[in-house]
Formats: sequence, C-alpha cells, structure tokens
Amino acid sequence: MELQINGKPVRVDADPAMPLLWLLRDVLELTGTKYGCGIGACGACTVRVDGQPVRSCMAPVSGLQGRKIQTIEALGAAGKPHPLQTAWIAEQVPQCGYCQSGMLMAAAALLEKKPRPTDADIDGAISNLCRCGTYQRVRAAIHRAAG
Ligand code: FES
Repeated sequence: MELQINGKPVRVDADPAMPLLWLLRDVLELTGTKYGCGIGACGACTVRVDGQPVRSCMAPVSGLQGRKIQTIEALGAAGKPHPLQTAWIAEQVPQCGYCQSGMLMAAAALLEKKPRPTDADIDGAISNLCRCGTYQRVRAAIHRAAG
C-alpha cells in the first residue's frame, strides 16, 4: 500500500491491521513517535492525519491510504523549528521528555484550528498524559507560540 508520510509517498508492505505506530517506529525508523500504553489512553504516540491528532497505536495502516500523515520529524524543518518547538524550549517544558512529541503534535493541531486558544481550549484539546506533570508549562508554551 502507499501512504503519504511527512509530505512524501511511501510504499509499504505491511499487514493492513498493523497499527501506524509500529509501522513508523519499526519499519520506517521514525522513532520520534513514542509508545506509551498501546491502548489509546496516553497520547505519547500522537501524530497528525489530515491535520487532526490521531493516536497512532490505535490506527491500522489500512485506513490511512491517501491521507496525509505527519510525524514529529516533520513538524519543523532543519534550522527552522516550528514556533511550538521554539516555545517549548523557551518555557523549558520537558522533564523526562518521553511524552513530548505527542504533546507537540496535539498542540500543533490545536493551534491550526484555534490560533489563540484559551486555557480551556488547551485543556479540552490536549488529553495527553505526562507522568512528570508538565501540564502548566505545556499551556505556557502553547500561549507563547500563539503570540
Ligand atoms: Fe498510543 Fe498511549 S501509546 S495512546
């Protein structure tokens, strides 16, 4: 099957039932997307599909043909980080960092829909879990990126 990943067509020979997370990590070696729970609960595996945040551990590759998949590797470009990545650094958001790529992908989807989100918008849109409790800094960074 052919998928669109980070702006490029990618031909893959995979079990159609394989969750996108495993295709990304184990087949394509795009390891920025993380495995946390595997049951759609934590959000560590969040990528964007047609702009929307999607938990890739719950998304079989068979349903993704013709759709635009974006991973953390393509959120910014070399030498040109996404404004959220710049804000994440300025606010020193990560602690262990494990969940942060999923947080960033969910935040990017939110900002595209709501360029100036309120705290309630952020809390409503980002249900990703962070065991280090970075939620306040995540909020601050999103506000900073929103300008
Ligand atoms: Fe997918 Fe936790 S690993 S939601």
